[in-house]
Amino acid sequence: MDSGVRPYEEAFAPYWHPVAFSHELKERPLAARLLGRELVVWRSGSGVSVTQRYCAHRGADLCGGTVVGEGLRCGFHGWTYGQDGRCVRVPSQPGVPIPARAALASYRAVERYGLVWVCLAPEPAAPLPEWPELESGKLATVALPRLDWNVSAGRMMEIVLDVTHLSWVHEGTFGNPEQQEVPAYDVERLPGGLRAQISYPALAPGIGGAAPRVDKTTLTYEVSFPFAVRLSFKPTLFFQHGVYAIASPWSEEKMQCFYFASYHPGLKLFPDIFVKSELAILEQDRLVAEAQRPKAHPMDFAGEVHVKADRLPNEYRRGVISLRAGRPIEGPTPE
Ligand code: FES
Ligand code: FE
Repeated sequence: MDSGVRPYEEAFAPYWHPVAFSHELKERPLAARLLGRELVVWRSGSGVSVTQRYCAHRGADLCGGTVVGEGLRCGFHGWTYGQDGRCVRVPSQPGVPIPARAALASYRAVERYGLVWVCLAPEPAAPLPEWPELESGKLATVALPRLDWNVSAGRMMEIVLDVTHLSWVHEGTFGNPEQQEVPAYDVERLPGGLRAQISYPALAPGIGGAAPRVDKTTLTYEVSFPFAVRLSFKPTLFFQHGVYAIASPWSEEKMQCFYFASYHPGLKLFPDIFVKSELAILEQDRLVAEAQRPKAHPMDFAGEVHVKADRLPNEYRRGVISLRAGRPIEGPTPE
């Protein structure tokens, strides 16, 4: 690994990563993991909080604690922590000053787009992705269960951005084996991201013995570094919709992906169709991605072979390499 590459956890700590869907976070605190850290996520009247998972007193699991007016109360001896992680109550000795070390590491957390996002560094290096349509009040959303894959976040993003695998990996769901060539496409640099658009003759399986039909789809990819992408689908047969995939790194070799779609709320059939078909499609991806080696996202271009049709995942990798090295992301390389 070249000397400019920083440790994985250090390099990606200053970015926002999702640790839970908002709908998963109810009254009980929720366990989360991010970049090697064990976290507890909880919501009080003043919003969402994310702190270290284990109590500063005797290491009890705060996921078994209770959210009370003052904050999060540990179930072992009742120590209670405020949103900033400082202990505000030690019930065994009221009226005695609370030791300064009685505190949990606490992190910046925000709820947006139906997700709880966390930044492990004091200052984020980049804002959250801008997906204004999700806040317009005009679209409904439907989420898949979290994708818990033994895949690095970067490998996950690269398979989502891989325009050449569609006809191979996705045969039987929407892949069209007749369409093997990838016509040239552009990759455009956005602030903090990339955009590319392709046109793909998806093959919609025939229902009830009918022949499969070609669904000519325009697919726009918009990456927000480091691990988020919005896919906008404009098909001719199926419904226009957006898909959002955000890989949340547990470690350099393992991630969970938060994956959901936005659609017009009048499309009552959309959620069922989306969940069923997307889970089948993603299972095809999982089998390939979990078997790739090396498991860690390569931080150079030397160990694998790259062709022009891979331009989008290549530019993505180039951007991630820059972030990992602490350099600004350069624009796409000229063809
Ligand atoms: Fe949490 Fe004692 S271990 S209060
Ligand atoms: Fe795929």
